Amino acid sequence: MSQTDHLSNNTASSTLTIIQPDDWHLHLRDGDGLMAIAPFTARQCGRAIIMPNLSPPITTTLQANDYQKRILSATQQYPKFKPLMTLYLTDNTPPDEIDQAIKSGLVFAVKLYPAGATTNSEAGVTDLKKCYPTLERMQKLGLPLLVHGEVTHANTDIFDREKIFIEQRLIKLTQDFPELKIVFEHITTADAVDFVTESSSFIAATITAHHLLMNRNDMLVGGIKPHHYCLPVLKRETHREALITAVTSGNKKFFMGTDSAPHSQKNKENSCGCAGMFTAFAAIELYAEAFDQVDSLESLEQFSSLNGALFYGLKVNSDKITLQRKKWTVPTSYPFGDDNIIPLRSGQTINWTLLS
Ligand code: DOR
Ligand code: ZN
Repeated sequence: MSQTDHLSNNTASSTLTIIQPDDWHLHLRDGDGLMAIAPFTARQCGRAIIMPNLSPPITTTLQANDYQKRILSATQQYPKFKPLMTLYLTDNTPPDEIDQAIKSGLVFAVKLYPAGATTNSEAGVTDLKKCYPTLERMQKLGLPLLVHGEVTHANTDIFDREKIFIEQRLIKLTQDFPELKIVFEHITTADAVDFVTESSSFIAATITAHHLLMNRNDMLVGGIKPHHYCLPVLKRETHREALITAVTSGNKKFFMGTDSAPHSQKNKENSCGCAGMFTAFAAIELYAEAFDQVDSLESLEQFSSLNGALFYGLKVNSDKITLQRKKWTVPTSYPFGDDNIIPLRSGQTINWTLLS
């Protein structure tokens, strides 16, 4: 942390200056939705890893190239912002596609969605064995695999899906590909924290702001809150505490990935509501609040701005941002194509304000 008075001065005017963060897990959608939401991230982050679960998904480097152009046109106002593209892994992704991806210089990872695990995962992987030649190529060329770590059996309790994924899939995957770089995405449990902590340096994890700030009571007590529904679903308080311990531990394996996943108001407030929270409009402010709650602001910069770049083998950003401990009220909604989006904390306050 380059400049802060938070340790000596806990007043309302405290500021915190840190290296500009990156978002290592972001959903930007496409079309009008993309135009509406991409600038929120470009305003605060140097780079973002862009999820490929569009409909149809981004499965080739060619598609990733076109999608990147659309993102760059949506973020023209912030020309320094770099969208780092990913490919959507299917049962049929050919190993040669990995060569193309590396050659392009614009694809930074491949995303594994177990088929049926989440939004637009129908084309995802049904059997990891089918992907072994492609994973072999990724291991050889150093292209990271980003994992949505949940099993999908109908008879597995939704709160246990991450833990069982570790036991039934991830342990074997890391044994079969000991030098494949893997990011266990948006981890939500103490089990995942332990797994990542005890694994080799090839294994890291992203953690969202919403999983640091909320537990499952925030979704289910006093009425169902559809805007607090995401996947992996919010867990019990002991798991939230384990995530907080992980991000404030100084362990370089954990880094920021918002999983900001916008859906229209109509698709969230629905008898079969979509999974995802929209947090990109205040990503770093929400993380600052989570770290501040446990008096650990000194650990924020490493988590938000250093660890991810280190894992991906990229330089850290050269710009800085400044946050102020000053409350502001979140708009009740933002425009999103021909509908609205309800942001996290809609109409409520956030304790930190991004100044520049
Ligand atoms: O809550 C989520 N929303 N989790 C995911 O894994 C996907 C995402 C989305 O794309 O909506
Ligand atoms: Zn996601």
